[in-house]
Amino acid sequence: MQLLDGKKTASDIRADIKVQVAELKENGFKVPHLAAVIVGDDGASQTYVASKVKQCAEVGFESTLIKLPDTISEEALLAQVESLNNNESIDGFIVQLPLPEQIDEQKVTEAVAPEKDVDGFHPESVGKMVLGLPTYLPATPYGILNLIDRYNIKTEGMHCVVLGRSNIVGSPMSILMARNTQPGNCTVTVYHSRSKNIRTICNQADILIVALGRPEFVKSEMVKEGAIVIDVGITRVKDSTKKSGYRLLGDVDFGDVAEKCSYITPVPGGVGPMTIASLLLNTLQASKGKRAVVA
Ligand code: GUN
Repeated sequence: MQLLDGKKTASDIRADIKVQVAELKENGFKVPHLAAVIVGDDGASQTYVASKVKQCAEVGFESTLIKLPDTISEEALLAQVESLNNNESIDGFIVQLPLPEQIDEQKVTEAVAPEKDVDGFHPESVGKMVLGLPTYLPATPYGILNLIDRYNIKTEGMHCVVLGRSNIVGSPMSILMARNTQPGNCTVTVYHSRSKNIRTICNQADILIVALGRPEFVKSEMVKEGAIVIDVGITRVKDSTKKSGYRLLGDVDFGDVAEKCSYITPVPGGVGPMTIASLLLNTLQASKGKRAVVA
């Protein structure tokens, strides 16, 4: 079993980005600038956004964090998005999800200018991804592709089972793994809440990508010997022995599953850091006026 070390790989990617930012500066270009909008004070969202901003500084990007109260109206949030669309100093921005219930997330997503949509959530970005046209890929699936690629895993011809069909992870992941690319060229099965025979389906997976948000859901009897297992889940569970008061659990029961796998991502330190690194890659592309393409 080999660990797919997202922490180390993301750090390598940030080092590459740092070199490119230094080159941009040397050649008289402005440094990339990412803005993040966060609404309300959900603990997990605050942590993610704080990491995004911190890592901008590490690679030499400018960043702007916009904190808004959870009582904000949809109109006021849309005005904020419009102002970021029109702010020439900002190359790309994200609006952290989820949003409070008085706000229509889809409306906000569609208000983001596609050329600044470094989350890849706008329908134009999603459409281009489906067609294989240059665009920003959503950060978590893009991070998983980058991780597979950096470990030089050739996925052609493999059976990839994706557990979950969310707009952010499961659906785009299934599309990307089926494309005629490396990583990609897989036969893909999407398992969701109405699917049957989970054990049989998972046992046929050469690559199992799990994005259900159900802690330790995947057990060893669901995994084929030698499979590659990618765990997207990050659930906070109470743990009074930790300083933070919680620990993080993936969707895969790591202790039970790991020794059956050829490769497996840990939680934390697997997909999470790769997601942020991939958002930085998208922002670098945005600053160059190009949308990312995955070869
Ligand atoms: N909430 C959970 N993941 C994400 C993400 O990748 N981007 C945004 N904007 N919100 C999220």
